[in-house]
Amino acid sequence: MRIDVLTLFPKMFEDPLGESIIGRAREKDILDINIINIRDFSNDKHKKVDDYPYGGGAGMVMQAQPIFSALEAINARDCKVIYMSPKGKTFNQHIAKELAKENKLIFICGHYEGIDQRVIDYWVTDEISIGDYVLTGGELPAMVVIDAVARLIPGVLGQEESYIDESFYSGLLEYPQYTRPSEFRNLKVPDILLSGNHKKIDEWRKLQALNITKKNRPDMFKKYINRKDLSNEEKRLIKLLIEE
Ligand SMILES: C[S@@+](CC[C@H](N)C(=O)[O-])C[C@H]1O[C@@H](n2cnc3c(N)ncnc32)[C@H](O)[C@@H]1O
Repeated sequence: MRIDVLTLFPKMFEDPLGESIIGRAREKDILDINIINIRDFSNDKHKKVDDYPYGGGAGMVMQAQPIFSALEAINARDCKVIYMSPKGKTFNQHIAKELAKENKLIFICGHYEGIDQRVIDYWVTDEISIGDYVLTGGELPAMVVIDAVARLIPGVLGQEESYIDESFYSGLLEYPQYTRPSEFRNLKVPDILLSGNHKKIDEWRKLQALNITKKNRPDMFKKYINRKDLSNEEKRLIKLLIEE
């Protein structure tokens, strides 16, 4: 997948997108991430990229011209152009899965009071928010989305199936995880996980996943228990939990 990121702060991306799983995916050419400095495209002799908002009000607005020119330079038609914005649709695993199917994505990171609306009207296909709060810029939100999308691209994670049981993938939050040693400062790993009985382990994990979802995300739990494709075993576990 090719990802272009338009930003006024390219340095913010250097380490976070160069390390660990994303860094390795870039080395293997599964991911090609191209960071573009919007300022390089300003026609202003002082490379100015922002100005006061029409109609008054606090702060500065990023001007249309440098962003238009940057998008034209990378031929931004025929692919998704995503503007990171608190006014966008709230990001979730479903959106990540959909974006992971694309060959090319372009991210625009706003700063100050945001970008001139004409960029959004003319270029942007998707406005995405990472949550109901306001950050200083779209750089961290873009990295959040890129990370969540990239790990769903085949070949990026070592084991393809490693995200199947993860939170949100199946509509539930993930069960608790433990690793060696089996006892640490008197804190023990549940016996069932050491039993070698995979049927019982799967059942325990499903119950834990249902339980944590019921506790932390009642909205997701309600949706899950109303699914038409639940197995009899799942129905039994749900009944146990509801009767608790
Ligand atoms: C200070 S914010 C602008 C907020 C804008 N004036 C508003 O009230 O909606 C500057 C930039 O940060 C980014 N940003 C801030 N919060 C965000 C969020 N929750 N999700 C995605 N991007 C966000 C956007 O790119 C935005 O243009």
